Amino acid sequence: MTDNKDIIILGIESSCDETSAAVLQNDLLLSNVIANQKVHHNFGGVVPELASRAHLQNIIPVVNDAIQSADIDKNQIDAIAFTKGPGLMGALLVGTSFAKSLALSLNKPLIAVNHMQGHILAHFIREKDKTKTIPEFPFLCLTVSGGHTQIVLVKSALEMEILGQTTDDAAGEAFDKTAKIVGLPYPGGPLVDKYAQMGNENAFKFTHPKVPGLDYSFSGLKTNILYFIREKQKENPDFIQQNLKDICSSVQKCIVDILLINFEKAILLNNVKDIAIAGGVSANSGLRKGIEKLASKHNLNAHIPSFQFCTDNAAMIAMAGNFLFKEKEFAGQDINAVARLHF
Ligand code: KG4
Ligand code: ZN
Repeated sequence: MTDNKDIIILGIESSCDETSAAVLQNDLLLSNVIANQKVHHNFGGVVPELASRAHLQNIIPVVNDAIQSADIDKNQIDAIAFTKGPGLMGALLVGTSFAKSLALSLNKPLIAVNHMQGHILAHFIREKDKTKTIPEFPFLCLTVSGGHTQIVLVKSALEMEILGQTTDDAAGEAFDKTAKIVGLPYPGGPLVDKYAQMGNENAFKFTHPKVPGLDYSFSGLKTNILYFIREKQKENPDFIQQNLKDICSSVQKCIVDILLINFEKAILLNNVKDIAIAGGVSANSGLRKGIEKLASKHNLNAHIPSFQFCTDNAAMIAMAGNFLFKEKEFAGQDINAVARLHF
């Protein structure tokens, strides 16, 4: 029914601390509005109850803004895609309930999207006047966010297999917890990255975890950093202030090395021509450089998302919605948010 017709999808994302809405015409981005929640900055992490309240306040203006910026009428929307999970239950419920009501009032189909698959499918979004190559299936994606660390074999847009994942903290959490230890506000990843670029990455050594197969572990690193800093502060109370750039740089190198060692093992085990990174931590300068190096070492194509598609955004949800729409994978009004959603 839609083979020759443009497909316009409204995407809605509310899984954590960004309220976002976006409009895509096929793979072309028409708008992507993101409201960040500043309310968590002083708490060292996302406070779930505050996130839900901020989503409630933001959702109507953000969706309106996305529709207006896309310069479409809401009746032109073919389907509404929303994040079903994984994420914070209260936060997910705001987006899910809103998407359900809007679909009902506009009499349009509803599409439930897995947030982690959305991060990966962000690679297929086209931006006006920008050229980029899209990954070729099958490809390997290292998906690294505040809640997840996964090596995914992407066989097609809708068929993905997790080959390895973290057994405890996510890579983003390792960045955020490092930031908290050295006194930087949440979310710490971008700040650690900023200071890291000015420091010496070989100044301090931190330990790598011993995990079998392609899985990861980051909780030991956090403890390692905490004890290391405590010891140094006994000798010099100003140790953090005097060494902030070197600490950030050395921690960043350690996290990126840990991520890429297993990703390289996955490359050797799978016959792919393309590799990609996705999720909030794919904005990291060290990881972006590291993946390029790995690709040239193995003669592969590296796909690195533009910054606006690294951290949480609804454009990726709308893109996943586009693939699901073509397969007529619609959700009913009885659909529920799922906090721990797997592929
Ligand atoms: O994908 P995302 O926006 O949310 C989740 O789905 O979790 O990822 C957020 C995570 C946070 O942990 C944040 O600190 C991290 O991504 N992050 C970074 C950078 N930008 C965001 N970590 C390291 N370097 C960055 N430049
Ligand atoms: Zn995310």
